[in-house]
Amino acid sequence: MIEGLRFQRPVLPASDAIERYLALSREERWFSNFGPCSDLLRTRLTSATKRPCVPVSNATLGLIVAVAALRGRAPSDAGEALVPSFAFAASAQAAVWNGLQPVFVDVHADNWHLDTEALEAALRSRKGRVAVVIALSTFGVPPPPAVREGWEAACRHADVPLIVDSAAGYGALAADGVPIGSQGDVEVVSFHALKPVSAGEGGAVFCRDDELADEVASLANFAFDEHHQVTRPDGLNAKLSEPAAAIALASLDGLQASLEIRSRLASEILSRLPADFQQQVENARGTWQFVPVAAPDSAARAAVLEEATRRQIGIRTYYDPLHLMPAFSGCARAGDLSVTEALASRMLSLPMALDLESDEITAIADMVRDGVGSAVTASSSSRSSTSQAVAQTHE
Ligand SMILES: Cc1ncc(COP(=O)(O)O)c(C=O)c1O
Repeated sequence: MIEGLRFQRPVLPASDAIERYLALSREERWFSNFGPCSDLLRTRLTSATKRPCVPVSNATLGLIVAVAALRGRAPSDAGEALVPSFAFAASAQAAVWNGLQPVFVDVHADNWHLDTEALEAALRSRKGRVAVVIALSTFGVPPPPAVREGWEAACRHADVPLIVDSAAGYGALAADGVPIGSQGDVEVVSFHALKPVSAGEGGAVFCRDDELADEVASLANFAFDEHHQVTRPDGLNAKLSEPAAAIALASLDGLQASLEIRSRLASEILSRLPADFQQQVENARGTWQFVPVAAPDSAARAAVLEEATRRQIGIRTYYDPLHLMPAFSGCARAGDLSVTEALASRMLSLPMALDLESDEITAIADMVRDGVGSAVTASSSSRSSTSQAVAQTHE
């Protein structure tokens, strides 16, 4: 039996593949500040998504500058950002860094994305108070087209800008062919070491037009104008370095092949899980940073977690609800967030690696099945001891 399996085993492109791009920077002796690799990356991302974009040093700073660029367009007394609670912390933190209060909204029980009806209700009941919506392509899966269109229509109707955090999703296409990178007013992706496109640290901000992209690029460069004058106090340094851009370019070269491998491995894992484990709607369109799945209930999840600890197999429980975290527990909630709480109590993220071996896939599936099996045995033996106890009290 395999024991000791890392949650993820990230890979970096080979050094000669990186050097092929970095040579451009060496030639120009230009290693940051929108140099040749960052420029080439921007061109490639724009041609794949048909949207102007700004490479950034990580997605968190990308989200921060995106909110900064868009919040100026909201009424000045709008101090809130609507964010799904079933999300990664950076979405809410980007709001806070811009002086906005996160207000948490529920997700849909089947697709696990921000619930369109809950979003519409929140925009209606908080009219005039919402500066921005920060939705999420949950687990890097593009929302079904009807969901994306629902978010966009709700935000348009309320005249509130829409940012989509698609950190893990670069390379994915929605069912109607719309690529990650072209949702909402702004969409942000991450090139963190654990994402399918990796620069070690990095990311990109895709914008609906050139004017917005120029503003994001300026904010990411201390808000300098062409005369080196600072135009906004909230400018910062979010520039992607040339070595990181070279790694991202080399990683992009291998993206299609790696997405195919990830998808095949994820299908193999999922096909071996018990039938009552729930998968995210349209998950086959995702990029499989890891393999998220919902156990039938929280007891089954707890049993699998215990089994994973016993076998030293790395699994995670993304996403723990943001509204229950110490940093955000005082924030307002738009609705009771009951779907988020129920879903989060069942979530498991199973391991993924491009070089996952078949015996490792077996080990992951066995861990889940044995974990669930032990929970069933424990509960039926506790049921039978309870019924014995009940029988005894009746004697
Ligand atoms: C959904 C989501 N948003 C944002 C981030 C932050 O990305 P970065 O590490 O590039 O700042 C992550 C990172 O894991 C993420 O998963």
